[in-house]
Amino acid sequence: MTRPFESPRMLIGVIPVNDLSRAAKSDRDLLIDVLDRVTTSGRYIAGPEVRAFEESFGSYVGVTECVGVGNGTDALTIALLALGIGRGSQVATCANAGFYASSAVLAVGADPVFVDVLGETACMDPRDLESVLSAGVDCVVITHLYGRMADMPQLVELCKRAGVPVIEDCAQAAGASLDGRHAGAWGDIGAFSFFPTKNLGALGDGGALTTASTEMGQRIRRLSQYGWAEKYRCVMPGGRNSRLDEIQAAVLTARLPQLDWSNERRRQIVDRYAKVASEFESSCLLEQRQGDVAHLAVVVTPNRDAVSARLRQLGVGSDVHYPIADHQQPVIRNGNHRGLPETEALTARVLSVPAFPDLTDGEVEIVCEALKGALAFGSAASQQQVDVHSK
Ligand SMILES: Cc1ncc(COP(=O)(O)O)c(C=O)c1O
Repeated sequence: MTRPFESPRMLIGVIPVNDLSRAAKSDRDLLIDVLDRVTTSGRYIAGPEVRAFEESFGSYVGVTECVGVGNGTDALTIALLALGIGRGSQVATCANAGFYASSAVLAVGADPVFVDVLGETACMDPRDLESVLSAGVDCVVITHLYGRMADMPQLVELCKRAGVPVIEDCAQAAGASLDGRHAGAWGDIGAFSFFPTKNLGALGDGGALTTASTEMGQRIRRLSQYGWAEKYRCVMPGGRNSRLDEIQAAVLTARLPQLDWSNERRRQIVDRYAKVASEFESSCLLEQRQGDVAHLAVVVTPNRDAVSARLRQLGVGSDVHYPIADHQQPVIRNGNHRGLPETEALTARVLSVPAFPDLTDGEVEIVCEALKGALAFGSAASQQQVDVHSK
């Protein structure tokens, strides 16, 4: 028997925030081909598949140098090391992007300095960066969050004027572009993750760094493999073993031609949700602008818990990216020394709903209907709270 709060959809399952098995099913022949080719080649590390992917991804991004590494956090860490960032250095970054950049900063012994974001984009606020730069930092990591390009013309110009290098965190922005220039081609170094849920996803961990500097490319390559200039000749301290493997590289090469198409599909889905959310005054959906790639569909709502619970009742999953701001993480000492009002407001309100490219049109419509119901429910719950407070 159906209990009163359950919709029929709840009984047949919830639309998940992501379902990677769908892409794997549609790519099945492609993937089997890749696995067959690589397993029978006898080369599993640092072979022709990695070289081919580095070449094609570098040219897709629009840079001369691309180096495959083990994952996106390693890409950020190696980028910092390549720029000479280490103990005693200060690195400016945002605090709403899942702690990945902060964990790379801590890993090299440096200290993060947090910059607030713009409420309407969730990306770095140029005015706040300006004040952080004037206090003096050694590097800036700019994250293109949720597939949205940060304001690179302004941010890069500010950093250039201050003589401070820029790392772009492009983990959520493969294929994104601004003014005709791809994410990963704006900063001194671009850092990518190919974690399976990313817009360009592998079948395991993977990452890459991009740069237009031959010298920087060489430093990155050496740092990612023991500090070697050539086999067994170690010329750089701080080297590690972080390599993209042949199977992941071949999977990524096979999937790269689909990236623009699947990004377009993501954008269509997010545009559809944005229309629904715009009907509710207290909530909005972070809209995608031209060139953004809709990695996540993020609703900003003051009543997140109620909206999330209602969505679930209506058969739609949701998640929070991210529930704890970096400066409030236990591992950050003196984390509250600088107020980040926009970051904190977003951290309390963001809610991601399903927007992966393999959703069917029917499911997108179900999410739209559920969003309408849940946001209306959330608004009513807020209103009730206001009424109680005004007693
Ligand atoms: C914005 C951002 N940066 C960095 C990373 C780290 O990537 P990885 O999980 O491959 O280490 C991720 C993803 O997980 C991410 O979303």
